[in-house]
Amino acid sequence: ARDPSAGPGLLGFAPVPVSRADTAVVPSGYRLQVLLPWGEPITGDYPAFAPDNNAAQQALQMGMHHDGMHFFPLQGSGDGLLVLNHEYAEPRLMHAAAAGLPLGAFDVPLRADGSRDPEQVYKEMNAHGVSVVRIQRGADGQWGAVRDARNRRITALTPMEFRGPLRGDPRLETPYSPEGLMTRGTLNNCSHGVTPWGTYLTCEENWHFYFVREGDGAPASQSRYSVGPQSAWRWHLAAAEAGKRDEACARFDATPRAASALQDYRNEPHAFGWVVEVDPFDPDSTPVKRTHLGRFSHEGVVFAPVEEGRPLVLYSGDDSAFEYIYKFVSARPWHRATADGSLLDEGTLYAARFADDGSGEWLALVPGQNGLGAQSGFATLADVLLNARGAADVAGATPLDRPEWGAVDPGTGAVYFTLTNNKRRREEQVDAVNPRPANHFGQIVRWREADDDHTALTFDWELFLLAGDTDNSRDLQGNALDEDNLLAMPDGLWFDADRRLWIQTDISDRDQNKDPYRPMGNNAMLAADPDTGELRRFFTGPVGAEITGCVTTPDQRAMFINVQHPGATTSAADFARGQLDSHWPEGGGAVPRSATLVITREDGGKIGS
Ligand code: FEO
Ligand code: CA
Ligand code: CA
Ligand code: CA
Repeated sequence: ARDPSAGPGLLGFAPVPVSRADTAVVPSGYRLQVLLPWGEPITGDYPAFAPDNNAAQQALQMGMHHDGMHFFPLQGSGDGLLVLNHEYAEPRLMHAAAAGLPLGAFDVPLRADGSRDPEQVYKEMNAHGVSVVRIQRGADGQWGAVRDARNRRITALTPMEFRGPLRGDPRLETPYSPEGLMTRGTLNNCSHGVTPWGTYLTCEENWHFYFVREGDGAPASQSRYSVGPQSAWRWHLAAAEAGKRDEACARFDATPRAASALQDYRNEPHAFGWVVEVDPFDPDSTPVKRTHLGRFSHEGVVFAPVEEGRPLVLYSGDDSAFEYIYKFVSARPWHRATADGSLLDEGTLYAARFADDGSGEWLALVPGQNGLGAQSGFATLADVLLNARGAADVAGATPLDRPEWGAVDPGTGAVYFTLTNNKRRREEQVDAVNPRPANHFGQIVRWREADDDHTALTFDWELFLLAGDTDNSRDLQGNALDEDNLLAMPDGLWFDADRRLWIQTDISDRDQNKDPYRPMGNNAMLAADPDTGELRRFFTGPVGAEITGCVTTPDQRAMFINVQHPGATTSAADFARGQLDSHWPEGGGAVPRSATLVITREDGGKIGS
């Protein structure tokens, strides 16, 4: 790493060391404030947080497991709407009935008859989704939530509309929406996107974990997405009394049980895996699932810079082992005066092929091209978008080591993606963009589109970083990482306006502080110079958490990040004994809570400079 005493570069802070402590750490000269932890009231009658709040109270409070996030300014840099996702929940921390049970981070309490308590299921549903909350900086420099009519919770129960080619498709028909126009809720919202017209995109990642589908004969639009006989959440088992299922919960059982799709929920899995547009400025607006962006485990969406009169371009990764990176190019040109979400409803979806010589190609996912057509099961555009993974398989896209966040360099237009890891990649599956078998540590790829035109069909790529310990890593200069910057499992990625590349890590909770991840300690955030590759650790988080979500105010004087799932490393046995790995942020014996943090500088300067 560069000597911090060497004078001002893009990175002007002293690196923080690896941490294993149950606390959050920023560089010297920086300050931290915990803002908006799980359960903080933001709307309605503002019910105060308690770990055993009921489902109705949770619907008026911050959800759990904060992830992607954006700050929409209202006035300058001290007043705005903070909008963030709640990726999932940790049921054992939110139900009094879980106390003393040997439950892991994903385990749900079951009743003696094997059913689930619907009150618990509704609380979990209401801890998912999106929060919109107005925040302001006070005269003392401290930030706080403000009561505002725009504050809103979107949950796994909020009505939503389909737009784009799948709207009205028979495969979206359900008893709830016999015409296939609507659904309820958004799930497992990981990273996000911000449209150039000022709306928020929330992205549905591991939605398949919520469904069960028994028996043979599932369509590829479900089997290719790992919808099967096991549901992690078992929401479909909610029963008010023996044998009496709750309809809003039973819809997560996609097993065909009746004569037609209008009498069971075989099509419900098709309602998830989309990018959802939310207008944070209109609390009465209906979120829209934009089906032309394809259906997969969307981590997030990142836009190329817009140009008046040119198509709109965005990129999105499918975060699962051996899945793909996609690009969407709008059919209609971008015009600032008229742009809105309908631009996302017509265009072309592509999947990326990375050749070993450093070139790349965008493969159009369109019937009649790249092997797609009736003969391969993709007769229509709707067939392609509903099973985008299968279409990209046929087209010959490159299976990647779990594409997570993307970011576009505001100076050069280069596109960066984190490929977080892939322990399942075998030696014979190694290629230049996925260069390691049993890839524990992950890498960051970047590319420039031909002629720096984001609509181009070819690009040139290189690896920006091979993450890892000091023996298994490589920075842009070809050097190994060192104690100031070693990292594993890069996930969150964001460029600030000065071109600092912020990199956040998500070493899985089951792996944290165990070999081979022991040298990295707790998850962290680093900043990189995209030109020199210089890289320095900026932040370390508490025990068991991942670090995710990153945005600054327009003046870059305040940065918001999220600490997700502190204490998730707690074993089932320790949980049963009441011994939690983390009590962050309150400390003492408190239940750990995901939270948004505000980072500022004691001298009021720009973050990172
Ligand atoms: Fe939810 Fe791929 O991280
Ligand atoms: Ca996450
Ligand atoms: Ca992620
Ligand atoms: Ca991750």
